[in-house]
Amino acid sequence: MAASDMLADTFATADDLLLGTLPGRITKPAPTRIVVIGCGHVGLVMAAGFAELGHDVVGIDRDEALVKELRAGTVRIRETGLPELVAKGLASGRLAFDTRYAPAISRAQFIFLAVDTPQTMAGAADLRNIRSATRSIAENLNGTSPILVNKSTSPIGTGETIEEILGRGMTEVHRSPRIVSNPEFLRQGRAVDDFFHPDRIVVGSRSPEDAQAVADLYKPLVAPVLVTDLRSAEMIKYVSNSFLATRISFINEIARLCEQLGIDIDTIVEGVAHDPRIGPHFFQPGIGYGGSCLPKDVAALRFIGETLGVSTPVLSGVQQVNDIQRTSAVRRLRARLGSLEGKVIGVWGLTFKGGTEDTRESPSMDVVHLLQNDGAVIQAYDPAVIADPELVPAGHRRLLAQTAVEAARGADALVILTDWNDFRHVPLGEVRSVMRGNVLFDGRGVLDRRDVEANDFAYLGVGRVSTAQRRRRTDT
Ligand SMILES: NC(=O)c1ccc[n+]([C@@H]2O[C@H](COP(=O)([O-])OP(=O)(O)OC[C@H]3O[C@@H](n4cnc5c(N)ncnc54)[C@H](O)[C@@H]3O)[C@@H](O)[C@H]2O)c1
Repeated sequence: MAASDMLADTFATADDLLLGTLPGRITKPAPTRIVVIGCGHVGLVMAAGFAELGHDVVGIDRDEALVKELRAGTVRIRETGLPELVAKGLASGRLAFDTRYAPAISRAQFIFLAVDTPQTMAGAADLRNIRSATRSIAENLNGTSPILVNKSTSPIGTGETIEEILGRGMTEVHRSPRIVSNPEFLRQGRAVDDFFHPDRIVVGSRSPEDAQAVADLYKPLVAPVLVTDLRSAEMIKYVSNSFLATRISFINEIARLCEQLGIDIDTIVEGVAHDPRIGPHFFQPGIGYGGSCLPKDVAALRFIGETLGVSTPVLSGVQQVNDIQRTSAVRRLRARLGSLEGKVIGVWGLTFKGGTEDTRESPSMDVVHLLQNDGAVIQAYDPAVIADPELVPAGHRRLLAQTAVEAARGADALVILTDWNDFRHVPLGEVRSVMRGNVLFDGRGVLDRRDVEANDFAYLGVGRVSTAQRRRRTDT
């Protein structure tokens, strides 16, 4: 083979992957035909990522409008590098989208399930999408026996459920479903980078060969690979998310203690997080965790415990503290402003965290509802929501301000509910000058307390104490 041909068959550089630090020139894996069911936050990143790695990928979603947009290269979700990656995949012919199962399924070697598994009223994970997608796969196998890989976060034993549904749809000759659990650990807002730089790849299966085959799809990527049985892989995902939630609730509980003691939580976190056994991540106090993963995954693990008769007081406490963080924010505003009836509250941030468009299970939305229940008038600004007002329920759209300063205009108090970086750059003097009152509640520790106070605000923070509180502490 000529040297130029060999080069054409390699990834040129890490920059070619838009992202970063893949080492040198890496031989492409053998192209494989992959189908990804569900083209949302997880599925779309994975589909575009695998196409970039050289595989032929078809993303299937039942949402016709979404598929139409994706075929035109329009990406709904806010992920750095994703529109470029999707455009590149489409242009290369290695990435396609469909609403139909039939054409792609019978040709697929690997089928990934990346459908949503929301929380039921009882707290369990809702498996209806997994079941219906698996049935649709089974109906379209046409005698083939691809490896079915579950990416969706789903309770321990789901792999066996999938196996059963798929087995029923297979011919006698091929009645041995090949199931692998490959949980996803991406962080929204950084999902593309996380795809190309995973911290680990977990693959669980009855068949170590099938698990390894799935791990090999990621081959050019550098990450530890952990091959487990099906149930262990499923459990690893729940334990990861529940532990992250536990860290957040733990530091939030400590933050409320610090508020009463007049001690600054940031100093405590720093003093503690230097211990390598503890570390700094997921250790920032605020109004609590949210989003489409942590709340439902903690609830689902608790539910699993209940069905097994195993009590889970730690998980119950984690949820309880998370609820308290929301109500505590409102209680503190009430204590400062008196009755909230008719008070104008400027709100910065509606998404569940900065850098994403996602408002699912957003703590900010919960606090907004609590404030409205108390009769407050809300003026909200969020960088992602203003770009796409459809992200919030219709009733909330008339409350949207066009800029951060506009949200503060005439307000009795300003509350920061999402950790958008943009908020650090808003001129605080201007914000203060357009407000009626002077209270600023920083529910995410976004701003420096000293800057806030230097601009004539009365500061309230989660575990972060104002100068006045410090003085009271030294007076006693
Ligand atoms: N969002 C995250 O950060 C994240 C991280 C790790 C794991 N997960 C897990 O990954 C799974 C997917 O999450 P998501 O955030 O991507 O969800 P999502 O809601 O963004 O996307 C799910 C997509 O699946 C499609 N879908 C549902 N049922 C279908 C079916 N039967 N056939 C075809 N399409 C179908 C929906 O239309 C939707 O577009 C969940 O189990 C979640 O817990 C999510």
